[in-house]
Amino acid sequence: MDHDARLRELLAGLPRLERGHVWLVGAGPGDAGYLTLHAVSALRQADVIVHDALIDDGVPALARPEARLEPAGKRGHQPSAEQGAISARLVELARAGQRVVRLKGGDPFMFGRAGEEMLALAEAGIPFRIVSGVTAGLAGPAAALIPTTLRGVNQAVIFATGHGAGDGPRIDFAALAATRQPLVIYMAMHQLAAIAADLVDGGLPPDTPAAVIASATLPGERVLVSRLDRVADDARGTGIAAPAMVVIGAVVAMRERLQGLVPSPAAGADR
Ligand SMILES: C[S@@+](CC[C@H](N)C(=O)[O-])C[C@H]1O[C@@H](n2cnc3c(N)ncnc32)[C@H](O)[C@@H]1O
Repeated sequence: MDHDARLRELLAGLPRLERGHVWLVGAGPGDAGYLTLHAVSALRQADVIVHDALIDDGVPALARPEARLEPAGKRGHQPSAEQGAISARLVELARAGQRVVRLKGGDPFMFGRAGEEMLALAEAGIPFRIVSGVTAGLAGPAAALIPTTLRGVNQAVIFATGHGAGDGPRIDFAALAATRQPLVIYMAMHQLAAIAADLVDGGLPPDTPAAVIASATLPGERVLVSRLDRVADDARGTGIAAPAMVVIGAVVAMRERLQGLVPSPAAGADR
């Protein structure tokens, strides 16, 4: 059997998206190449795809021509659809007998609010499935050649969000600093100076390596390498913008070590 036929057979053997069911699907960090086969299969079966704003244009293009695309864009600090309204819409579509894909950036469960949508579906008696995706917290550092774990350097890695739920306070970054483990921070750009100050207050040396990886895996990908006490100013100075991941810790130094050893450590590097 040739490779294309094997791939078709593999896709055909994946679970069927039934009428009245909702799948919460991770689209990966942006580049369509990071879609899993389960995600491709879901897109090819859906009647309706309710998708996030951060989804790359090429991803919904994999849908059937007759499928309907509904943006449910939610972007920090920009007008966004209310979460309750999105969950209610998923229930409504399923009750109308549609095969529904809720397509989310990265992994649905990683700061993706899939937990709330899953609960709303369960409460409404709607069958659902979670299709994991490649989170930006792993793809971002990888794009910058920063290992999230490195033998001899760290034994854990902390994934955090830069802003609290709703209007709640930021998480206790000083306490996270005390673990001395690397931090991979989503949605950190608006609070970067305050987060860095909290981490220094918590005992992280001001010269701890810090990186910002913006639009990871996308054509506009950029990487900034700095240090904790300067990263917010450097980010402002270079204009590096969201969507971006911030990585703080000794693992970031690997990128510098690699420069000079490999021809092009990563695309779009500022430093
Ligand atoms: C609401 S969170 C959703 C995260 C997503 N569920 C995931 O697993 O990647 C959105 C944040 O993820 C990060 N992000 C998403 N895509 C990114 C990308 N391609 N490059 C850098 N950061 C990204 C940014 O911090 C952005 O503000």
